[in-house]
Amino acid sequence: MSAIPSPDRPPIDPYPLSPYVAWAGNRNRDPILQAFKELFPKSGNVLELASGAGNHINYFAPHFPQVQFQPSDYDADVFSTIKKRRADQRNANVADPIKIDLTAPETWPDPKDRLYDVIFVVNLFQVAPVSIADGIAQVAARVLTKDGFVAIYGPFRVDEKYTTQSNEAFDKEILAAQVSEWGLKDVRDLEKAANLHGIALQKIIDMPANNFVLAFGRV
Ligand SMILES: C[S@@+](CC[C@H](N)C(=O)[O-])C[C@H]1O[C@@H](n2cnc3c(N)ncnc32)[C@H](O)[C@@H]1O
Repeated sequence: MSAIPSPDRPPIDPYPLSPYVAWAGNRNRDPILQAFKELFPKSGNVLELASGAGNHINYFAPHFPQVQFQPSDYDADVFSTIKKRRADQRNANVADPIKIDLTAPETWPDPKDRLYDVIFVVNLFQVAPVSIADGIAQVAARVLTKDGFVAIYGPFRVDEKYTTQSNEAFDKEILAAQVSEWGLKDVRDLEKAANLHGIALQKIIDMPANNFVLAFGRV
């Protein structure tokens, strides 16, 4: 999702296979890739939460040939699209998607199976309840390696303030849809949830279109 309206932007629709999500993903995937090139290890395991159509994970995978990528979502209907993209792009380092519902602990990965060097998520918070931060922190506490990190991309408020007018305008636009869980979340609420599970905010990276990458690691 983007905080800056643009003439070619389809109507806001968070359904993962919507033209809007495709448009937003095509727009943000290169800046995110550049940030991740600075952050990711050369090899290891990476888990994506809320992968949607698999746009990001399949775009990033060829740039990290020694990294194993694990897509996931709570909506199993998107899995065939993730697999089709993987096949189209011949990505041998992207696993079959798995179901992870951030509100359902019984779906969370088992640390006995695998630990992850990176867990990332793109554009989830503006269309999810803030309590989703607790799920992410608990998944991280379970399956993140000792020096691993969580990277959360999206638009956020900071200390109950908008960082730009365009983020405020974007928030008003999504709040107008009157879906109770939609709206920009505050970085400090994510931080509080993380701290309860031994995870701490380490870095806030400014991204284009008034988005951020929030990097969290173990305390
Ligand atoms: C706006 S889409 C973003 C998809 C993808 N990350 C992207 O940027 O293209 C939000 C995604 O979050 C997923 N999602 C929503 N609630 C979730 C939950 N509780 N657990 C896991 N995934 C969830 C949806 O199925 C959807 O794929």
